[in-house]
Amino acid sequence: MSSSSFTDRILFGGDYNPEQWPREVWEEDMALMRQAGVNLATVGVFSWAMLEPTPGVYEFEWLDEVLDLLHANGIGVALATPTASTPPWMNHRWPETLPQNPDGTIRTYGSRNAYCPSSSVYREFADKISDALGGRYAHHPALRMWHIGNEFGTVCHCDRCAARFRTWLQVRYGDLDGLNEAWGTAFWSQRYSDWDEVIPPRQVQYVINPTQDLDYQRFASDLLLGGFIAERDLVRSHNPAIPVTTNFMGFFKGTDSWRWAREEDLVSLDTYPDPNDPDAARDNAMTHDLTRSLGGGKPWLLMEQSPAGAGWRHIATPKRRGLNQLWSMQAVARGADGVLHFQWRASKQGAERTHGAMVPHAGPDSRVFREICQLGKQLAQLDDVIGTNVAAEVAILHDWDAWRAVELDHQPHSGFRYLDRIREYYTPLWRANITADFAHPEADLSTYKLVVVPNLYQVTDVAAANLVRYVERGGHLVMGPFSGVSDPDERIRLGGHPVPFRELLGLRIEEYWPLPDEPLTVESAELGDFTAATWAEWLTAEGATVVATFTSGPLSGIPAVLRNSHGEGTAWYVATLPEPAALARILGAACHAAGAEPVLPGLPPRVEAIRRGDKVFLLNHDDESVQIRDLTQDAAQDTAL
Ligand code: GLA
Ligand code: ZN
Repeated sequence: MSSSSFTDRILFGGDYNPEQWPREVWEEDMALMRQAGVNLATVGVFSWAMLEPTPGVYEFEWLDEVLDLLHANGIGVALATPTASTPPWMNHRWPETLPQNPDGTIRTYGSRNAYCPSSSVYREFADKISDALGGRYAHHPALRMWHIGNEFGTVCHCDRCAARFRTWLQVRYGDLDGLNEAWGTAFWSQRYSDWDEVIPPRQVQYVINPTQDLDYQRFASDLLLGGFIAERDLVRSHNPAIPVTTNFMGFFKGTDSWRWAREEDLVSLDTYPDPNDPDAARDNAMTHDLTRSLGGGKPWLLMEQSPAGAGWRHIATPKRRGLNQLWSMQAVARGADGVLHFQWRASKQGAERTHGAMVPHAGPDSRVFREICQLGKQLAQLDDVIGTNVAAEVAILHDWDAWRAVELDHQPHSGFRYLDRIREYYTPLWRANITADFAHPEADLSTYKLVVVPNLYQVTDVAAANLVRYVERGGHLVMGPFSGVSDPDERIRLGGHPVPFRELLGLRIEEYWPLPDEPLTVESAELGDFTAATWAEWLTAEGATVVATFTSGPLSGIPAVLRNSHGEGTAWYVATLPEPAALARILGAACHAAGAEPVLPGLPPRVEAIRRGDKVFLLNHDDESVQIRDLTQDAAQDTAL
């Protein structure tokens, strides 16, 4: 295995759930997997009730057989701890293992993922089976990696979770005075006089305390992470050489993946873009870039995608011909060293009986399976990208706390959605084939030519100082609206916004001015006139150059876009939501000044270019084929977006 990757060939395969099928199907599976070039199967993700049919009684023989069979056919295994879904006996016999909603109702069994992460019964059974699997399979020759749980995200509001929450808060705030101060409980008679009074955000009469809400989101992520770590350490103790992962869901608000990724040996992703969504390729690219960035640029694994349709979708349109190959290549281009699917063979029963699969209901004589076989061949030719890196000159800041905080109740505009801001700023860069990483606001940014901050409503002092220093030392930065507003306790920073960035940006904001969606006109000699909507800010330039000014609406005459020289660098501030073409011009100007270049300039629209190692991947997302001219001739073109 190359030291820079978890694999020495591009991994290819999918979730394999053979416990749904009789033995003769297993034999056919092996032949078809070999035909398709499958080299990795994810096994055991939801097998708990089959592995432990009654409390403490394990039946591993069938799993022995599955692993041996896969191994005999040259196929490796990502073996899951089956702890995402409890067996009915556990929930029936120990009802406290079930999760509680904020209104006190219980989510019962009969589906999946129904467990209280604080339940000691759940924890003990989960640890025991993880340890038993580790003991039995950690040295099995088929084992390539551990897959802990599945898509962690269950949140519970029960009394046991309340007790765990209090412990978490004691670590964060020390004593009750610290908690009262941080949560601002002097308002609305919320002062706590005893730790036992402190509870999760549950069903309430009116708006919940925002810091209580925010802290519970942080706690819920950390609580699940504790479960991941417990199982990781158990399986690892049997053979530290086997890498450990769990499958992330990209921009999923429930888990702070920066914190999680540090605990993994490799980062993996489940991604299900909608084939009917014209922006799916962009969203997929964005998710790939996040996943690569979470692992610090190291190769990652595409753990799940559907080869066809996703059964849970409102309209489960299959992927058109070639689309699964295209999106798989996109993942490899953006740093994946493996492409897996959910699932190998389409279920004929159960909740996911209509979900796409590598072997569909029609069987191997099908478009989908033929395309899978082609994909296997294509991926097998890409071994020399393994372990190589994707170079990015631009960083886009992304922070789970800033996301959660800006979407708390009673923000000035309930339609102001964090991911919309991220997408708006990502889009023009993606269209121009300027590769971007995502970065945590406290990360070292010194290697980037340009840092883009679509929205950073809540910011720590450390992160704020990091951004200021980055610009002082010559960096280029573009910051979007409603940034730098609150501190980590969700305390508004006082005295004129954005307190930590006022000098950096050379301006002072007195009021945020959310608006209905009618377009406002904006005048700019430099950018050309444009429209903006939804958001404005009553601000004054204090040293910054005004680049664009509102010419209609209640803020007519007030600056909308500014640019400031600070130290050796330059910081732009965009105090509104410009129409896409105008935002593209702003980012284009910033890229140009920073020297951030497209991978290849002048490509037809919807052709994506990514450089990975010494290769350039060109991906055509259009239905029609396109002619690409000799690209080396065009290399000197400008970077206009
Ligand atoms: C998730 C799960 C899988 C499966 C797929 C279906 O990604 O991890 O078990 O349910 O969704 O899209
Ligand atoms: Zn609970």
